[in-house]
This record gives sequence, structure tokens and C-alpha cells, in this order.
Amino acid sequence: MKGISLLNSLAIILGVVQTTCALGYNDQQQQILAPAANIKDNRPNIIFILVDDQDLLLDSINYMPNLNKHLAQEGTFYRNHFVTTALCCPSRVSLLTGRLAHNTNVTDVNPPYGGYPKFVERGFNENYLPVWLQNAGYNTLYTGKLFNAHTVDNYNSPFANGFNSSDFLLDPYTYSYLNATFQRDSDPPVSYEGQYTTDILKGKALDLLESAISQTDPFFLTIAPVAPHSNVHSNGPIIPGVDLKITAPISAERHKHLFKDVKIPRTPNFNPDEPSGVNWIARLPKQNESNIDYNDHFYRSRLRALQPVDELISEVVDILDENHILDNTYIIYTSDNGYHIGQHRLQAGKECGFEEDIRVPFIVRGPGVLPNYEELAITTHIDIAPTLFDITGLPLRSDFDGTPIPFKKELNSSDPVRHEHVTVEYWGLAIPEGKYNTLGPDNPEIITNNTYKSIRILSSEYDLYYSVWCSNEHQLYDLKTDPYELNNLYVTSDSPGNLNEGREILGVSLAKVIHRLDALLLVLKSCQGQTCIRPWDVLHPEGKVETIVDALDAKYDEFYNVQSKVSFSRCEFGYILDAEGPQTALTYRDGIEWHHWV
Ligand SMILES: *[C@@H]1O[C@H](CO)[C@@H](O)[C@H](O)[C@H]1NC(C)=O
Ligand SMILES: *[C@@H]1O[C@H](CO)[C@@H](O)[C@H](O)[C@H]1NC(C)=O
Ligand SMILES: *[C@@H]1O[C@H](CO)[C@@H](O)[C@H](O)[C@H]1NC(C)=O
Ligand SMILES: *[C@@H]1O[C@H](CO)[C@@H](O)[C@H](O)[C@H]1NC(C)=O
Ligand SMILES: *[C@@H]1O[C@H](CO)[C@@H](O)[C@H](O)[C@H]1NC(C)=O
Ligand SMILES: *[C@@H]1O[C@H](CO)[C@@H](O)[C@H](O)[C@H]1NC(C)=O
Repeated sequence: MKGISLLNSLAIILGVVQTTCALGYNDQQQQILAPAANIKDNRPNIIFILVDDQDLLLDSINYMPNLNKHLAQEGTFYRNHFVTTALCCPSRVSLLTGRLAHNTNVTDVNPPYGGYPKFVERGFNENYLPVWLQNAGYNTLYTGKLFNAHTVDNYNSPFANGFNSSDFLLDPYTYSYLNATFQRDSDPPVSYEGQYTTDILKGKALDLLESAISQTDPFFLTIAPVAPHSNVHSNGPIIPGVDLKITAPISAERHKHLFKDVKIPRTPNFNPDEPSGVNWIARLPKQNESNIDYNDHFYRSRLRALQPVDELISEVVDILDENHILDNTYIIYTSDNGYHIGQHRLQAGKECGFEEDIRVPFIVRGPGVLPNYEELAITTHIDIAPTLFDITGLPLRSDFDGTPIPFKKELNSSDPVRHEHVTVEYWGLAIPEGKYNTLGPDNPEIITNNTYKSIRILSSEYDLYYSVWCSNEHQLYDLKTDPYELNNLYVTSDSPGNLNEGREILGVSLAKVIHRLDALLLVLKSCQGQTCIRPWDVLHPEGKVETIVDALDAKYDEFYNVQSKVSFSRCEFGYILDAEGPQTALTYRDGIEWHHWV
């Protein structure tokens, strides 16, 4: 760069800084940014790799050597990372806004409750992570799947905002491994019939990366392959029942021979002899040998579909290294939701609250991130947007339901300042993928009434899952003794003769624990911002309760006994408030009879 043009670019950068400040960042931010024109350039780059439907618990990451070598060994593996809604579109909208699905009200993959049109209708196209980072001076780039129901018909009405350059996969071809349609910037869609989608995507991602590196602005590049999602063929909208075929993912030719002997891990919850769960899951039949063989094939197909993603990781790292920016670039790897195949007798799919569905890989390398480290503190997808604000120096938004993950230091997993809870919510359908379901091959069955609210809470002392379904069925699993969630401990205080009678968790009866969990869920299912981060403060404004252990104090027994209980009046497909029972909790006030405050 010649002297004069360097000066010009500095002036331009200064100009951008001033504009950025004018957009309302706080004074402190201005003071930091304004004096040194080149500080902007020192902000880290971010590469966000967002795969589709990858599990944490079915071992798929162990078949990705580059992910392990370049990210896990060089970075931190967040072992207790959860999604808050186990379905692509709601999860992605939560991730990109830092808000729980009950606060985005994008709760499904298709309108009226979800999909790209609902995202736009709710105003998020002007108000989500890429827009925020672009306004802050980041060069924002994206390739791959953004949201469901983002289609060849609606991609330009309006275009997705916030990207300096984008190249999106569009429905109904998003999940066609050999017939993808991509749509770049404001160009019309282009079909890639006969080509392998993840390889095309890799080419696009590397081009975007090279172009970002050639610019002076720091960049935020998202690479969102559909692997290892199932292959979906549709001639219309991707809605069950509309000429839709859901099959195992298709492998690239060069990977077809791999993993011939690999099978789904036969964990104790794999196709168990006794049914488990509640509602439709408790009614599933045990799978026969042909079904299991098919599911093993489905599983191997997923591992193969992930291989091009693994290759991509290595190429991205090489390019960063060659350009000497590897040390100033965060690479974040995760999935929009987890996946089950055969656990609890389920056919392939997601949408459940079981561990397989809500835990996903979350692996980060970058400046200051501890290498070869496994973090046990709880982190979730709604923490990701706040975290990116944190590492790029932006003040947090008050509507964030999550809280930054301090990438640069070891977290103390028993530190109550980090939350012990995960809010999990779901509305509407479950769709078993693959050919074995009661409606027969290639005919996706729709399970209705898959609406539930749950919490996971965990620390070194306890590890619990509690949920309430729209049918008012309940689940309680103690994962310390039942890590595969096979033994539902839920009892009501008046269920005599119950097998679980006399059983204790944390030294008290199940009923006492359930009352606390229910109250915590009551707060979390309608929390906003800070109350999602510190829910016990809502129940105990005097601030003496920070964990479930604190709440178990006998002096609160009566308060929790009479607390409103989470319940539903009916099953709905979306977030319909009047179907969802009590919305607010009673509050405890020390030294004063709490019920005087009701
Ligand atoms: C990205 O787009 C924003 C908004 O249009 C613009 O101000 C910025 O200069 C662009 N950055 C690059 C590197 O093109
Ligand atoms: C591939 O996609 C195009 C649209 O982009 C469509 O017209 C064509 O029918 C598809 N081919 C197959 C084999 O499905
Ligand atoms: C296995 O179960 C499926 C239904 O789930 C049925 O269609 C198939 O015939 C069964 N196969 C055998 C060998 O029993
Ligand atoms: C973690 O936090 C707990 C609770 O605050 C504290 O007792 C413990 O000493 C901390 N451990 C470390 C390693 O800082
Ligand atoms: C479950 O869904 C079906 C079909 O939508 C409906 O008829 C039934 O009443 C629902 N069950 C409950 C418990 O709401
Ligand atoms: C969520 O969106 C649906 C569909 O537009 C609407 O019917 C519902 O009232 C909304 N829920 C809330 C709590 O605003």
C-alpha cells in the first residue's frame, strides 16, 4: 500500500469509527475507539461454523480428526453446552438474537409460528447479530443455510439484512445434497444440480474468507453447511405431507467407503426393553432388527456427511495461518441442535428434551482461549451473541436472555455467578426422519402435541432434568444416577405407593425438589433479559437464594408448596399464551409472611 492511500484508508477508518460511535455506543466505547484509528483493525476476526443437526452424545465428533486437531486441541471444548430449543429455525433465531424462543416467538420451522417469514415479521431482520456486528464495523459474511422457509420465492422479499456478502442455501433445495440452490448477494438463485452441496459450500466459504482477508475491517464469517442433516427431497414447500422424502444424508463419492463397520453406540437407552419418557415417546414400539440396521446405516451416513466439513476446517485454518491471522481469529464450532437415533426407541430426529437433542458440540479456539481444555461450566446458545459482543468490545444489550461466556479464562463450574440452569422449550411437531415410522417408508409422520417446557440444572453436586408437557405429563430425571434418562422419578406429593416414595435427591424428598424445580421453570418459561440469567432473584428478591440448594432450606417449604404450578390448558402448535397456564410466580419476602404479598 502506498503512503497516500494508507492515509486515505486511515481517514476512511476514522470516518467509520465516528459513524459507529454515532450509532449510540456508550461513552467509554467512544473513548477507547476514537483516539487510535487502527484499533478497529486489531479487533479479532470471528469464523463461526454452524452445522445442522450434529449430536454431541452419539460420538460423531470422534470421527472428525481435523476438528479435534485444530479446534479441540488448540482450544476449549465446552462440555456442558446446550441449545434452548432443539429445532433448527427457532434455535438459529435464538442464537442470532441472544433471546429464548418465547421472547423471539419464532418457535417453528414454518409460518405461522416460525421460518424466515416469521423472523422478518418479528422485526429481527433489522435487529440480529450480523446487523449489530456490521454496524460496529465488522465485515460480515455468510454462506450456507440461514433459516428454514427461506426459499427461492421469498429470498428477496426482503433480502436477509446485515451481510456484506452472502451466499445462502434456499428451500426447497436446502437439504438436497446433490441438488442445492444457492443465492448470492442480490443475484438470482443458482441451481447446482448433480454437485455435492458441502463441496460447493466449501468453495464459497474459502472465497469469502479470502475476500475478507483482503479487506482491512475485521470480519465475521459464518459457514453453515447442512451436514449432517438428513437428505430432503421436496417438490413443494418443506412441510410434512407435501410430497416430501426424508432419507439418510448422501455421502460424497470419496467418503462412501468409510465406516462400514461402525454402529450407533449401544448405550443403555438405545432401543430399551422397557418404554421410556412420556406421551408419544412412551408409546413407541421396540425397534426390530431391520429398523436397527437401517438406523445404523443412517448413522454411518451422517458420519460420512461430516467428512467434507472436517476437511473444510483444516483448509480454513491453513488459510488463516498463511495470512498470519490465525492468532487473532476466533473459530467457533457448533450445531443448531442435537440428534437422536434409536435412543428411547426414537427414530432418527430431534425436537425432544433428552440429552441427545439438547447437547451440542461447542468448541472454540482463538486469542486467549485455553488450549486443549475441557470446560464444565454450563453454557447455552443464547450466550453466544452476548459472548461475541464481549469479545468485540460492544456493550451488552438489555434484551439478551443469555450472558457472555468468558472465553479467556477458566470458568469455575461451581461458581453460582455462572448459571446452573438451562431453559429448554418446545412447541408443536416432532417429525421422525428416515423410513421406519408407523406411516411407512418415505412418508414422514407428524407427531402433534410435542409441546413442553423444561429445565436442566447441573453442578458438581446435582444433575437434573425436569419437564412439563402440554398434556400436563411431567418428567424428572436424576442424571447423577440415571445419565440415560430411563427412570422418570416424577411423583406428586399425594401419589401413595409410588415406587419412588422415600427416595431423596440432595437429602430431601422428591416432592420438595419438584416444587423448587417447578417454580424455577415457572420463572424461566416467561423470563426476559436479566430474569433469564438470575431466575432465583425473581422468587427471592432479598437475594439469599442463588441455587437450588439454597432454595431447599426448610423455611421455604410452605412458600414452594403453595407456589403456582406450571401447567397447560391445551396443546398448541405455537406460543399461545392463554394455553400456557400461570405466567408469574409468587415472591418470597424475608421476615414477612410471604402470602401477604400475593
Ligand atoms: C460492509 O457493509 C457496511 C454497510 O454497508 C459498509 O459500511 C462497510 O464498508 C462494508 N465493509 C466492507 C469491508 O465492504
Ligand atoms: C434440481 O433443482 C432444480 C431447481 O433448482 C429443479 O428444477 C430440478 O427439478 C431439480 N432436480 C431434481 C433431480 O430434483
Ligand atoms: C420391522 O418393523 C417394521 C415397522 O416398524 C415393519 O414394517 C417390518 O416389517 C418389520 N420387519 C421385520 C423383519 O419384522
Ligand atoms: C469455585 O467456586 C466455589 C463457590 O464459589 C468456591 O468454593 C471454589 O473455591 C471455587 N474454586 C476455584 C478453583 O476457584
Ligand atoms: C393431541 O393432538 C391431537 C391432534 O391434534 C388432538 O386431537 C388431541 O386432543 C391432542 N391431545 C392433547 C392431550 O391435547
Ligand atoms: C406468537 O405468534 C403467534 C403467531 O403469530 C401468535 O398467535 C401468538 O399470540 C404469539 N405469542 C405471543 C405470546 O405473543
